[in-house]
Amino acid sequence: MASIHDILTRRLDPTWKPGEPSALLADYRDRIAALSLVSEEIAQATAVFAGAIAGADDLATLQVVRNAAVSRESGAFTEALALMSSLSIEEKRVSGKALNLGKALVEAAEKAKREALERAREDAGGIDVTLPGRRPWTGRPHVLAQVRDELLDLFHGLGFSVYTSPEVELESYNFGKLNFAPDHPARDAHDTYFVSPDVLLRTHTSPGWVRAMEERKPPLRLVFPGRVYRAEAVDASHMDQFHQIDGLAVGRHVSMADLKATLNTFARAIYRRDVPTRIIPIYFPFVEPGVQMDVQCATCTGTGVTREGSTLKRCPVCKGTKWVEVLGAGMVHPNVFKAVGYNPEEVTGFAFGMGLERIAMGRHGIHEIREFLQNDLRFLEQF
Ligand code: PHE
Repeated sequence: MASIHDILTRRLDPTWKPGEPSALLADYRDRIAALSLVSEEIAQATAVFAGAIAGADDLATLQVVRNAAVSRESGAFTEALALMSSLSIEEKRVSGKALNLGKALVEAAEKAKREALERAREDAGGIDVTLPGRRPWTGRPHVLAQVRDELLDLFHGLGFSVYTSPEVELESYNFGKLNFAPDHPARDAHDTYFVSPDVLLRTHTSPGWVRAMEERKPPLRLVFPGRVYRAEAVDASHMDQFHQIDGLAVGRHVSMADLKATLNTFARAIYRRDVPTRIIPIYFPFVEPGVQMDVQCATCTGTGVTREGSTLKRCPVCKGTKWVEVLGAGMVHPNVFKAVGYNPEEVTGFAFGMGLERIAMGRHGIHEIREFLQNDLRFLEQF
């Protein structure tokens, strides 16, 4: 039959790296000395296990040593204690006591070592509770969508609702029914991409008026937001796609005074002050009279000049004209009413159309229209 000494020592592995158990347990020396007084042999084996526990570099190694010493199934101390029943009372008293002391000491050392290794792993690995939190990235509406929504809100307050119409449009809705004569030079300013001879990418949101009026009876008060296309040479202030909002009010006594009041309300809201505006005549086939609304140039506050040090320079924004064009407008042309089946003797209407890019550029001091499409977050995150 194997002796207690054999059982304890055959489980020891000479490759275990010895460490210093008193670094783990403050009372280690006292406990091993007390154990030696009971059994020198068991104290020596205990010291080897405890040393290997102290020397374990990682949790896996520690587990191997622990299992060799005290696992329930095959631990050296477990097996040795199982022998007790076959020993004499005197031997049992001495060896049993020594084994229990040794086992308790190994278990205490193992617990202390495991806690130390786990603490070290946390410190190295992973969580630095002093680091600032990672903020989730939050998106926002595109600057043009912001301007659009603000305008739609404003017009909603004035009683206009939204009407959307297709970007791919019939030539007749984009031009013919809006009173563009077939060979009129006004079409030059609206060169665009044709899908087929009579289908094109719309050059303005005004075709929406035609669709709305063909569908509905007057009175109407509608706004038409959307993307439009023109075959432009692209540069810092021109793109071949951009955004507009048209407005249309049709009823029995709609007048130019209503138009002016609406446009001035718009200008004050969008430029956020009582900005001076002016209306000057201009030609559009679908309105008569046609006007252009300008607002006083915000860059030079209507002086036409800017100061650079002590010298005065022509204002780069309005080019010295003191005014900046914001939109086209006018009273709906009788021919447009006829084209949609309205009687121009019974109804009148005003309409306006504005470019969103231009408004956003003016408001934010953006000098490059292509930025709106480039999706560079460094640009977009500024708004
Ligand atoms: N549709 C015109 C354009 O895109 C703008 C406009 C709308 C002018 C309404 C007058 C009235 O140029």
